[in-house]
Amino acid sequence: MAKPEYHIFVCAQQRPDGHPRGSCGAKGAGNLLQHFSERLVAHNLFNKVSLVATGCLGPCRAGANVLVYPGGVLYMDIKPEDVDSIISQHLVAGDPWADKIAPDEVWQ
Ligand code: FES
Repeated sequence: MAKPEYHIFVCAQQRPDGHPRGSCGAKGAGNLLQHFSERLVAHNLFNKVSLVATGCLGPCRAGANVLVYPGGVLYMDIKPEDVDSIISQHLVAGDPWADKIAPDEVWQ
């Protein structure tokens, strides 16, 4: 595999029902990960982008969370219908998609 231009980390953390932090897994991260995979193939980007299921990224209440490197851009409250905007605006055009970038407050 060629060196990826981007790494996409999709939080797939699961926690038990009732856990005070909740989890991205409970907010549909599994479907989100699958949709990312399908759309990267559809955009012929699978050799340019590395898609990684990861554990907790920190700001659980904002999930489902997606972190894109380089740049460390955190997207929050991501649903499958948001995936094409991240791909077309961030990964293809090179400009992070402002609509769902997490503000600094999510880290507090
Ligand atoms: S569970 Fe996804 S950021 Fe914590």
